[in-house]
Formats: sequence, structure tokens, C-alpha cells
Amino acid sequence: MCGIIGYIGSKRALPIVIEGLKRLEYRGYDSIGVLVYDQDKKEVYLEKQPGRIQEFVKTAQLDKEGSLAIGHTRWATHGGVTKVNAHPHWDCAKKIFVVHNGIIENFQVIKNSLVEKGHKFRSETDTEVIPHLIEEFLKQGLEYKEAVRQSLKIVKGSFALLIFNSDYPQLLVGARFSGPLILGVGDNEFIFASDPTPISLITKNVIYLDDGEVVFVDKGSYTIESFLGHEVAAKKGVIDFEIKEADKGDFPDFMIKEIFEEPLALENTLRGRLILQEGRTKLGGLEMIEERLRQIEKVVMVACGTASYAALVGEYFFEEYAEITTEVDLASEFRYRKPIINDKTLVVAVSQSGETADTLAAVKEAKEKGALTLGIVNVVGSTIARTVDAGIYSHAGSEFAVASTKAFTTQIADLVLLMIFLARERKMSLVAGKEILGELLELPEKMRSILLQSDKIRILAEKYSAYKNFLYLGRKYNFPVALEGALKLKEVSYIHAEACPAGEMKHGPIALIDENFPSLVLAPKDSVYEKTISNVQEIKARKGKVIAVTTIGNQELERLVDDVIYIPQTLEMLTPLLSVIPLHLFAYYLAKKLGRDVDRPRNLAKSVTVE
Ligand code: G6P
Repeated sequence: MCGIIGYIGSKRALPIVIEGLKRLEYRGYDSIGVLVYDQDKKEVYLEKQPGRIQEFVKTAQLDKEGSLAIGHTRWATHGGVTKVNAHPHWDCAKKIFVVHNGIIENFQVIKNSLVEKGHKFRSETDTEVIPHLIEEFLKQGLEYKEAVRQSLKIVKGSFALLIFNSDYPQLLVGARFSGPLILGVGDNEFIFASDPTPISLITKNVIYLDDGEVVFVDKGSYTIESFLGHEVAAKKGVIDFEIKEADKGDFPDFMIKEIFEEPLALENTLRGRLILQEGRTKLGGLEMIEERLRQIEKVVMVACGTASYAALVGEYFFEEYAEITTEVDLASEFRYRKPIINDKTLVVAVSQSGETADTLAAVKEAKEKGALTLGIVNVVGSTIARTVDAGIYSHAGSEFAVASTKAFTTQIADLVLLMIFLARERKMSLVAGKEILGELLELPEKMRSILLQSDKIRILAEKYSAYKNFLYLGRKYNFPVALEGALKLKEVSYIHAEACPAGEMKHGPIALIDENFPSLVLAPKDSVYEKTISNVQEIKARKGKVIAVTTIGNQELERLVDDVIYIPQTLEMLTPLLSVIPLHLFAYYLAKKLGRDVDRPRNLAKSVTVE
């Protein structure tokens, strides 16, 4: 993953890069590094440290002059979290400096050959081969830009890179292959970054780079080339969306703020998209592809993590209501399965960030096979949003906590809207369409009523905070919610939790159950309620503790289980939008009780741009 940023222009570069790194921290927060070049003194200033930007700004010398700087926030792939492994990395002569997001897959072969030629490596990273490779080409007599091009042709994998050579202090190079990189073009100033948020510090005018492109920002102008050296036209764009400052408001953490924003995010997602009287949805992004959508015979959804669980909920209602064969693929496995897709397949990529490398790779694979691709993406202008044939934005608003919450509920809502869009063109009746849309509109208030129970859920989470393992169970629409609840608990509290369909428990997980292994069971009053309660009985017969989530008015569980959380009644297919809220709260409060950094859990990153 990692976030990279680079500035060259007329202003002091370091404050811009530091502010940009704060905005990119969600991409990785193992270590920070910056380089500033002072043109007057002709000096390079370098500082890198393990730890987060907050610590970095306390100890680094931030008074450095210079109107060129590059910066990096790391999520370690190759090499431990140490100062030496932090970026930038440089060559033997300490003139060529590189910050990198991604993985150089053939680094070992390159490194071996460079070591044989006498290059001295300091770090354990894959990145360090790049400056040495460029240095090697320079030694062989290549001109600098040509040395960069030749190096880019050799490295394989995924990368977004910024390269600075102190022998060419007017020149900053950016290159991209399967890693995000955008160039902002201001008034006599340029800023590269992994996403648009730091770019908006300087300008709204951006240039989107495609895979296999390198940009030379040289003496106040830029040229874009393919790695082969052919000039490429700039794909200009404008940041026409509001970039919100990260602000916790009155909340102690982003995660809890974002859980409390779930009702509002849902309202924003639904706004202007429901034609209630016709039981239809209006999705502007799909108008161009309406005709092709009518021909679709199969839906395949690709996603990772939380987004994949939202997709799984969609799988159930796409088949039940739209009667279209639907399957969900974890994007990281999609290519290996050799999926059978063709031009009658709709491939839906679900992604909060729109940058997840596995999901992007799955989209590219689907496009190659002729499928119609559609994105359900939250971040406007992200790579997946720009790669798919059409899209529906989530409108969850910026999600800053690493663990996804409000994106999940908006993704499900988007999938409901898409399902109705397709189903009403097929067999779904006006009555059914109206019923679902009418109920969707009721959900934000119902979510708010669950949030009013947050104190009760906090006390419950604290009561269970000493347990080392949890089992999450649900059936049908609530099986994916169980997966999401367990993932959330793992991510933010580091407690082991696993989920399985309640009906599968008897085939293995039940062996885990004893008085020290509590279960969280999703048991709303729905078509599978009775069967789920049989599973609860099986747990109780083995002395397992049970927390149940059920529908208001269903008192019978009070006698059977240890603790009950109530949610309002809704349509069965929409229950995930309600039943997940107590699970998000439970994970948050339990992690807080254990003193975890809920917004920046260890080892994770929000946008995973490596495969
Ligand atoms: C990371 C995040 C998860 C997220 C997943 C997919 O692992 O930590 O919260 O669900 O990526 O991200 P996406 O941006 O594609 O939804």
C-alpha cells in the first residue's frame, strides 16, 4: 500500500508534503519519510522514522527550506518496520532517491545482478533496487531520463513511484504501473500524490496517469510518456468534489463517528434515486448502459473485506428478487478461478476506496473477457470508478477509520437500488418494487433507534471484553452480517472471532463451544428464525454463552440466551442494514475497553494497493 507525495514549485515544499502525508496516512502508518531539496544551499535533507506522522512532526526538523520535496507513509511489505526500511531509498552515490507504493516482484533477481556489479544495498526492501538500477544505467552512459525509462521497463509488479536525482534538481519524475498516482498541475507548481486529497491543497486541476506511464516534471513543465518513450496525451480532470478535512467532531474516534453517521450516509445514498410511485430507481450512472443491462444473464460481484460481505448480502436479494444468477467472488481469488464470464455477464466491483488492487485486477480481467463492468464505489474519481463501464457512487461521505462501517451499509443500499433497477425491467411487480423502496426510506430512522441503545451495547461489550474468542452466527441475509461482525471485532480489538452460517455450526465450529467461547447470534424474526433458534439451543446445551440480536417484541429469547439486543422490524432482505449496527458498536466498544487504537489498528491499511 503506502502513500506517496511529491511537490515541486515555488512554495516551501515541506509543509505541503507533511500535510499531504497526514491525508494519506490511511494508506499505511508503519513509518514516515521525507526528502527536501534546498536549491539555494544545494542540499538534500532526509528524515525517516518508524511510527506515525503525529510522532514524526514532533521530532523531525520541519524548518527546512526548499521548494522540492517527496514523502512517504509506509505499510510494510518487504522488510520490517525499521528506519532503514522506511522510504525514501537511494543509490550508492546517494543522489537518486525513490519513494514507492506497491511491490517490485522481480526485485530479488535485479538485486542479485546489481550486487554482482558492486552495488551496496542498505535495506531489506524491494524498492531499493530502483535507484540502484537507474544508477547502473547512468554508469553505462545512458542519459538520465533514458536511464529511468530503461529501469521502468525492467521492474515488474505494481508500483507508483516518485524519483528525484540531486544532479537534476529541477526535475521530478513520477511513474505508475498498477499503483495509484495523480499529478496536480497548479500555477508554476506540481504535486504528485496517491490520491486527490493532498492535491487539493494546491490545485483542482489534475492529470490521471494510466499504467505504464511516466511523467517528467522538468523546469516548470511536464511531459507524459509511455515507458517505451512515446509521448502520451494528458488525461486532464478537475477535482469537482468536496474534499472534507478529517474531523472527529464531538466523537473520540472516527470509527464511532462513522457508525453514528450510518443513517445519514444511507439517506445520502438514497437521495434522488427513488421513484416511489413507479417502484423504480433512477441511477444516472447507468443510463448509458441500460440497453446492455437488459441483456444480462448473470451477475458476478467482486470485492474484498467488508465490501465482499456487502456483496454477499446482494447475492441473496439479486437471486430472490431479480431472479438473476448471481455469485460473489473474493477479488483476490477471481483470476485464479478462471471464471466463466462473457458479454452477457455483469461484473459489479464493490469498493469503498476504489483503489483495492485485487478488485481493480478483477475488473480488468472481467473487461478483457468482454463483461459489462459496474462499480459501486465511494471515493469519487478513484481508479476503479474510472476503469469500470458505469457506476453508482456510494455517497457514504469520507470514511477515515481504517475499519469500514458506513461504507458497508451504503454498499448494501446501492446494491438494493441496482437490484430494483434490474428487477423492475424483468419480473418484479410494481407492488414489490414500491414495498422495498418504501421500507428503505424508513431505515435511517430505524438505524437511529438502534444507535440510541449504544450505552447498553457499550456495557455489554465491556462485560464480554475478557473473552479471547467469539463465534458469530447468522442464516440467509444475516450470514454475511455475521462475517462482517466477526471481521470488525478482529480488526479493531485483535480478538479472534470467526463466523459461519448458523446451519454449518454443527459441521465443525460447535467443537469450539464451551463456557469460554461466546457466540453472537443474529436471530431476527424472519423466515429462518426457528432454525437459528435450534442452533442457539445447541450452543446452550454445551454451556456456551449467547448474545442474540433479534426483533423488537420477540421476548422469548430473554429466557434462552445470556444477553439480547433488539432491532426494529423490517423486510427480511433489508435486515442486514439494521442488524449490523449493534455489531459495529459491539466491536468498537470492546476494542476501546481493551485500549486499542480503533482508527488505526495494527498491521492494517484502509486502501490496499498490493495484491
Ligand atoms: C481493507 C480495509 C477494509 C476494506 C477492504 C476493502 O482491508 O481495511 O476495511 O473492507 O480493504 O476495501 P475497499 O476500499 O475495496 O472497500
